[in-house]
Amino acid sequence: MEDRRIKKVVVLGGGTAGWMAAAYLGKALGPGVTITVLEAPSIPKIGVGEATVPNLHKTFFEFLGIAEEDWMRECNASYKMGIKFTNWRTPGRGEADPRPYGDGTDHYYHLFGLLPNHENQPLSHYWAHKKLTGQTDEPFDYACYREPPILDAKLSPRFMDGTKWTNYAWHFDTNLISPFLRKWSIENQNAIHIQDLMTEAVIDQRGHVSALKTEGGLTIEGDLFIDCSGFRGLLINQAMKEPFLDMSDHLLNDSAVATQVPHDDAANGVEPYTSSIAMSSGWAWKIPMLGRFGTGYVFSSRFQTRDDATLEFCTMWGLDPETANLNQIKFRVGRNRRAWVKNVVSIGLASCFLEPLESTGIYFVYAALYQLAKYFPDKNFDSILQDRFNAEIETMFDDSRDFVQGHFSFAPRNDTAFWQACKELRLADDFQEKVRMYKAGLAVNMPITDESTYYANFDAEFRNFWNNSNYYCIFAGLDYLPDHSLPALAARQDVLDSAEPVFAQIKQTQKELLTTLPSTYEYLKQLHGK
Ligand code: FDA
Repeated sequence: MEDRRIKKVVVLGGGTAGWMAAAYLGKALGPGVTITVLEAPSIPKIGVGEATVPNLHKTFFEFLGIAEEDWMRECNASYKMGIKFTNWRTPGRGEADPRPYGDGTDHYYHLFGLLPNHENQPLSHYWAHKKLTGQTDEPFDYACYREPPILDAKLSPRFMDGTKWTNYAWHFDTNLISPFLRKWSIENQNAIHIQDLMTEAVIDQRGHVSALKTEGGLTIEGDLFIDCSGFRGLLINQAMKEPFLDMSDHLLNDSAVATQVPHDDAANGVEPYTSSIAMSSGWAWKIPMLGRFGTGYVFSSRFQTRDDATLEFCTMWGLDPETANLNQIKFRVGRNRRAWVKNVVSIGLASCFLEPLESTGIYFVYAALYQLAKYFPDKNFDSILQDRFNAEIETMFDDSRDFVQGHFSFAPRNDTAFWQACKELRLADDFQEKVRMYKAGLAVNMPITDESTYYANFDAEFRNFWNNSNYYCIFAGLDYLPDHSLPALAARQDVLDSAEPVFAQIKQTQKELLTTLPSTYEYLKQLHGK
């Protein structure tokens, strides 16, 4: 019988996506498959992408067999216990610190993991009932999660002996991750690395790519091609002519200005979270690592010029726009109609891109790799494999797009043309239904696992990536509350009363953690041997 197995996989592009693809597929497909990575040193990588989500280690690095401490040390990684949203409710130009708001300041956290359940309902619903009936003024995040006071105090997600007490993700240096994975893939999996510029994709009679030609005169043949060429989409969009579906009717931002700012950790500590600071026409990220933080202002060029955005951004951090080392970026928002066409699979920026408000870019890379390994073809390229893969990517992307759009649609800010325009954008039908459920007091996307197994089952998490806990963090954080509490719960005063010890236990745990945890700075110094 003819051997139909795929033997040669060629990855075009050596950015974060390219080397993640090489490492992951090398491991998933085993030694019978040769992985070649072609990258052009003359074409720079995007040079941003430093905040992640909690399943990164389990789904990607643990799969490769790389210990968390090892890759963290190699990539100057730090911890991220959530995202702090700053100034999403109050008007004004960019300010790094939260502005006064009510009795407190304008900030809230988007935390990881699942809320505790009580009598088959998530704790969010007990909080909502208390809030809507005037029984509490405590913000949702501080009432329902242990983490917010710990984040305020910049404490660590691990005790000094290494014991982990909560869920977390990571920040890492984008310039270190692909060299680390490149070295690992070459040394451990015999990946072939070619540094040359691709000039042509050779197409056979079936319309498949059969080889890539390079400026240096090489012809690199393959059975399957992974397009990781970044926003250019050289194989998927240019060679395969697959259309990119522009989604700027859902999300207005299309530009960013980014830099790195040195930071005195000993004096100020290291924040164990990403900050997302609302600006006049978008928002800015702040991603702390030892010795510096990465930051960038993601804005809409329809509402602010690059010069004015750069000025607003530099003013916020006390930088001189003339001398600061700024990376000016233009991006496309949306996804390919199909991520996989014939024998070309697009991964990373070549496949889809959503502004990084919820740190989804790198997650989309390894989630796609996970799905590709699951639906991996042979040379018959049975179309059902592609169709299933494409459907997974479509759902993954569109669901995240809607969740991110919700941040802008329901932010009470209305002080600039940008924030006003966000309120007028169309919401997808699926998402409108979720919003209706939320407003009616129902839980949105309740996960089918519980807290103890949520991050251990990637398939379950993938299908329910943004669940009730996420929706509550964002919507309640923005003061966008349900219209009323869940009728089934409101009718049961005895059940409502019985949740009080759960809230009290959270307070007690917060107090204990505040007095026993080391600072994030102290823990990271120990981890990195500094
Ligand atoms: P990238 O552009 O980095 O690499 C493309 C590669 O293709 C390069 O190696 C280039 O040389 C090669 N290439 C191109 N043409 C070629 C040719 N003709 N021949 C050979 N090689 C060629 N994600 C996240 O998870 N968290 C975050 O915080 C952020 N933040 C963020 C901010 C902003 C402003 C943007 C635009 C993006 C993010 N991301 C992110 C997304 C993240 O940066 C992105 O997903 C990864 O860096 C992956 O990038 P790629 O490898 O796909 O493209």
